[in-house]
Amino acid sequence: MATNNSIEKSIYGTTADGKPVEQYTLTNANGMEVKVITFGGIITSLSVPDRTGKMNNIVLGFDKLADYETRSPYFGALIGRYGNRIANAKFSLGGKDYQLAVNDGINALHGGKKGFDKQVWAAKAIKDGATVGLELSYTSPDGEEGYPGNLATTVTYTLTSTNELRIDYRATTDQLTVVNLTNHTYFNLAGNGAGSIANHIAQINADRYTPVDANLIPTGELAPVEGTPFDFRSPKLVNAGLRSSFPQIVSGRGYDHDFVINRETENDLEFAAQIYDPSSGRKVEVWTTEPSMQFYTGNFLDGTLVGSSGSLYRQGDGFCLETQHYPDSPNQSDFPTTELKPGDTYQTTTVYRFLTD
Ligand code: BGC
Repeated sequence: MATNNSIEKSIYGTTADGKPVEQYTLTNANGMEVKVITFGGIITSLSVPDRTGKMNNIVLGFDKLADYETRSPYFGALIGRYGNRIANAKFSLGGKDYQLAVNDGINALHGGKKGFDKQVWAAKAIKDGATVGLELSYTSPDGEEGYPGNLATTVTYTLTSTNELRIDYRATTDQLTVVNLTNHTYFNLAGNGAGSIANHIAQINADRYTPVDANLIPTGELAPVEGTPFDFRSPKLVNAGLRSSFPQIVSGRGYDHDFVINRETENDLEFAAQIYDPSSGRKVEVWTTEPSMQFYTGNFLDGTLVGSSGSLYRQGDGFCLETQHYPDSPNQSDFPTTELKPGDTYQTTTVYRFLTD
């Protein structure tokens, strides 16, 4: 076990268009280790102890850059400029209409055809006492994927001495625009490639969620979770709701929904969720400054991808906890705004805290 924290850089590969990609390995004094590549800011590996102290990588991923470039369902990636869907890939802002890249049926998803998940970010290692971090920066040019304004973005991953992975997102713009950044890591607390996450136990601090239409666009309603498979206010087996015939579960093919976090403060970190795997004793807690979190149970994994574990990923083999603003906010005036003005700073934080029972 490491006695000190460290950050090490190695060469990871070269993109199809010839850009070098580096991998940074962050390790804390407990031996918790996070690997991040500069392509997409992707978390390729995250090793945490189980209840016996055994380390295992608990995130889904690939072992080749080419797979991340061509066939990844956003494994581990930073998502921007807009996480989740924008209906019909269109919105109006400041009296102008914007047409975005269409990449999900009729909608825009996760920033477009070449979103932040496919850009090479500039990296800077940070060592500060008990923490070790990686600052990633990318400036998205005005008009990229249809979004207005030059958007200067910085995302910092910090690994603390208490087994927390903290993600700080910041952005500034030179034109009125919309921003909704997140991270799309797929977790399996039993281990990458360990099979279904249906036996994990989830708790989500949300009284309401955003029901969606057949295209997975929110209807605009904030529906109560009470009496539905979306009621995770007390810890519940994921499988219980995953197999339900509740219409929202059917249209999402499982959980693929945004939960409105119960907030006591407007801007502080609030407890959003906790997921627990009884087999390994691993737990992840999510704390966020964001108003909501998408709980996605890997419904579109279909056995066509071989992952870094060497085995196939099938439906439900991982789950995502995407902290964010509500999907399609630019078209829904009753939702909290995702607008960013020149002179203002977009700033959000999410902490994933790893524990054992
Ligand atoms: C979305 C899913 C989508 C997936 C892509 C999730 O954030 O909610 O609908 O299929 O990302 O892998």
